[in-house]
Amino acid sequence: MSDKNSAIGVFDSGLGGLTAIKQLRKILPDEHFIYFGDTGRVPYGTRSFETVIQYAYDDMKFLSGFDIKMAVVACGTVSAVALPSLEKKFDLPIIGAIKPACAAAYSSSANGKIAVFATPATISKKAYESELMKLDASLSVFSVACPMFVPLIEAGYISENCEVTRIIASEYLSKLKGTGADTLILGCTHYPIISGLISSVAAEILGHDIKIIDSGYESALAAKQLLSERNLLNGNSGGSVRFFVSDETQNFKATASIFLGEPTENVTKVSL
Ligand code: DGL
Repeated sequence: MSDKNSAIGVFDSGLGGLTAIKQLRKILPDEHFIYFGDTGRVPYGTRSFETVIQYAYDDMKFLSGFDIKMAVVACGTVSAVALPSLEKKFDLPIIGAIKPACAAAYSSSANGKIAVFATPATISKKAYESELMKLDASLSVFSVACPMFVPLIEAGYISENCEVTRIIASEYLSKLKGTGADTLILGCTHYPIISGLISSVAAEILGHDIKIIDSGYESALAAKQLLSERNLLNGNSGGSVRFFVSDETQNFKATASIFLGEPTENVTKVSL
């Protein structure tokens, strides 16, 4: 039986959920986190819905083997494709990435023109678009599938001046030219790892700033709200995080250390 002292399970197809972990650790410093990155099977976003649902089930099953009180699906693709099926199969509160990001984008946009960058699966599911339309049917939404970002980020091409990633970002951002979008949802949790690069290329290509919404950050805020509403916040001080991945740990450790700004040694390889 889980209680306040139980951990929070967080998962993604790979490194992307670190954007949520970074924020969760800041916003909920006294909580214990178990992170699973399915680095052996990343990317999810170019796979069929059926496969994503199966992988999401495996990931949650792995996390359920720990004493967890809630789960954060720190993956836009799984949130778009598999959240209802996870909610049916697992009896614990689950926070997805889409609703919180859409609510933040809606309140941030001054002109109601919102762009979404996400994986091909998320875009073809129209997940962000439908959620934004529920908030306000008069919004204009410009969705762009960005299949190249995840492989680049997983391979560590994340520095702000990385030429290759800048070229790919220009390609995707040029699709927003002339739309007038003032807000951009990074609808895949991998993308905030390169949000500095995306902002700087956006300013060059669009000629104006665009407000960036980080779905990892918004999910972290939503997780805190849910725990506090259910009186499940950990009252003891001193949280922790344990990382599990399904492929070799070296690459994950290296990128995680750069992104989290602290050495990330506590990483174990598991097979599902
Ligand atoms: N980080 C994930 C997402 O938010 C998955 C990316 C992928 O595996 O393609 O969509």
